Amino acid sequence: MSEIRLNNVSKSFGGVQVIDGISLEIGSGELVVFLGPSGSGKSTLLRMIAGLETIDGGTLTIGGKRSEHLAPGQRDVAMVFQNYALYPHMSVRENMAFGLKNIRMATSEIDRRVQDAARILEMDALLDRRPAQLSGGQRQRVAIGRAIVKEPAAFLFDEPLSNLDAALRVRTRVELAELHQRMQSTMVYVTHDQTEAMTLADRIVILNNCRIEQIGTPMDVYLYPSSRFVAGFVGSPGMNFLKAELSATDGKQIATLGNGSDVALSVDLPPGAYELGIRPEAVQVRATPAATTGKAAVVEKLGDRTLVHLHLDDGTSLTALDGGRSEVKPGDIVHLDFDISQLHLFDSDGVAHHAK
Ligand SMILES: Nc1ncnc2c1ncn2[C@@H]1O[C@H](COP(=O)(O)OP(=O)(O)O)[C@@H](O)[C@H]1O
Ligand SMILES: [Mg+2]
Repeated sequence: MSEIRLNNVSKSFGGVQVIDGISLEIGSGELVVFLGPSGSGKSTLLRMIAGLETIDGGTLTIGGKRSEHLAPGQRDVAMVFQNYALYPHMSVRENMAFGLKNIRMATSEIDRRVQDAARILEMDALLDRRPAQLSGGQRQRVAIGRAIVKEPAAFLFDEPLSNLDAALRVRTRVELAELHQRMQSTMVYVTHDQTEAMTLADRIVILNNCRIEQIGTPMDVYLYPSSRFVAGFVGSPGMNFLKAELSATDGKQIATLGNGSDVALSVDLPPGAYELGIRPEAVQVRATPAATTGKAAVVEKLGDRTLVHLHLDDGTSLTALDGGRSEVKPGDIVHLDFDISQLHLFDSDGVAHHAK
């Protein structure tokens, strides 16, 4: 059964449409990430599920119950924000219990829920501390604890790691993934960070310009982006894009690049101008002569691998991958191997066609 179902929902602010007829089903126990650039409508869509923004049109079902007209407190969801304001004068235990006390839940039930949440979050030993006595990551866990004690049908997270420093963000990301595995609960998670989306999501929903660009597992979206936008947004370092002229000769298709080199392709597309996309890991630096060469401009040594930013003869920029012990230096002419099974062509509408 799907836990959250959006059917053709839309939203405008002052006549400007920010969500345009979105339909989406989120399965029970699934962790779905809304990924997109700033302003693409991620928070608005999440807040429409939470009841913090009204829904102009369409329907919302949460846990089998029509919910678009319900107040936030009546929807069976709990939200965790980027700015998790904890009450500084209250202990961790009191912070977690606060919302439940407000709805006059029995004390024994509150105690049980706080104990359960503390156990899930591995915070049993910290229950009597004040927020000031906790690290940033522990405070964020208390904020998650406040959501857990509500025992909601779904958790909604809006960029919960954005305020943490880089190292803590990576650790907390792993903790969240473990938490999801332990709880098996439905989670919707908003982020603009594609690495976060790739590591956490069961499925990623990519938003752009008020609409869904693509829905898929992280590897689907990475290997088979549906559009030029998705191809450019997912993956770090980003995909290379080259101008290519497609022609058919003797039943084969040839893409001619700006530097004049030909790449044989297996795609069924009409001849014409396209953009060719290829990820850096599919452009390998090789020691022996190859059909395509480029001049190294910047060499980024990352330890386990090396990114070589180079220019082809016609000035086209390209990033290639080399091993961690790469010997390439700026100014070197390098020979390039294209893995043509990992090529994508984008037509003038930005629609992706993948090499077979
Ligand atoms: N309360 C509001 N009033 C007017 N415009 C808003 C409001 N909230 C969001 N918007 C606009 O809606 C669009 C989507 O915003 P938002 O959902 O916050 O994007 P994201 O979370 O993806 O960065 C943006 O253009 C933003 O300026
Ligand atoms: Mg936002």
